[in-house]
Amino acid sequence: MISIIGSGQVGSAIAFLCISNELDDVLLVNRTKDKAIGEALDISNAIPVNSNVSIHGTDDFSKISGSDIIVITASTGVYLKDRTEMIGAQVNMIKEIANKIKKYCPSAIVLVVSNPLDVLTYVFQKETKLSRNKVIGIASSLDTSRFRYLLSEKFNIKQSQISDALVIGEHGDSMVPIFSRVKINGKKVVEMLTNSEKEKISKEIQNYWKSLRLFKSRSQFGIAKNTFDVIRSIIKNDELIIPASIVLNGEYGENDISIGIPLKINKDGVKEIIGIKLDESENELLKKSSQTIRNYIESL
Ligand SMILES: NC(=O)c1ccc[n+]([C@@H]2O[C@H](COP(=O)([O-])OP(=O)(O)OC[C@H]3O[C@@H](n4cnc5c(N)ncnc54)[C@H](OP(=O)(O)O)[C@@H]3O)[C@@H](O)[C@H]2O)c1
Repeated sequence: MISIIGSGQVGSAIAFLCISNELDDVLLVNRTKDKAIGEALDISNAIPVNSNVSIHGTDDFSKISGSDIIVITASTGVYLKDRTEMIGAQVNMIKEIANKIKKYCPSAIVLVVSNPLDVLTYVFQKETKLSRNKVIGIASSLDTSRFRYLLSEKFNIKQSQISDALVIGEHGDSMVPIFSRVKINGKKVVEMLTNSEKEKISKEIQNYWKSLRLFKSRSQFGIAKNTFDVIRSIIKNDELIIPASIVLNGEYGENDISIGIPLKINKDGVKEIIGIKLDESENELLKKSSQTIRNYIESL
């Protein structure tokens, strides 16, 4: 069973993908019970013919017992200028949810989606003391999707012509697009971009959510698909390599923070933390990004 805590825009979109692709039974758990029930009633009509999957909504956390995967998409409100705006309320919320998961379903693999992503992934892992391989913060793969999209628009090409696009670091303004690895039709993208063009694209990835909000309330489907891919990889034991947030223990020269770096995912959660070669400036930016997250954690 997949339990999704928070059945707002993001939680319900993830549930829709899980159900319409028959991944497993889904339980929606929401602060306001009626919202969970309403979304479940709607999404249940997307269950494919002859499928065994089911979806239900509740506000009762004890029902998460037995879940294989728990996805946290709960939020106490909507930030307007910065993902860390409601950090105090979000940290209190995740601690509360962490204690309920520890009580009712301590063996699940947990995917954190709520913001501020890296801080909440860290707090959740520390609060539950679950193995760090079973607590994954999903966001850098979304930032990577945005990087791919912006490159495809800039060069007027299909995304399939782009390989090895990657964004690591904080899911926030200090995120680090790794230009040194990207190729377009096999040619290194750094040979096709000036420094100021690289800076412009970096800023556009960082501010993508703000541009999107000029047209739509907030992002929903991109994060839902990126989270669904991880759920699928775990349930099907189909290895997936993506950047995602995990508590570091010396990797990339960092300790005791959670930050987005490339991970290999399988049925056990994180099978491997993948080290990649970065150029000097990317290394420097990753250090700054780590320090940004550390400052937020120390301010709690
Ligand atoms: N990682 C990423 O890349 C990424 C991308 C997009 C969004 N996000 C984040 O994902 C989160 C959800 O976004 P959204 O647009 O879906 O927000 P939303 O529509 O406001 O939904 C949040 C839901 O969480 C529920 N909730 C609040 N506290 C709860 C608790 N303690 N237990 C259970 N449910 C609780 C709310 O219930 P009520 O019905 O009672 O209000 C609401 O239905 C946000 O933190 C957002 O910033 C992350």
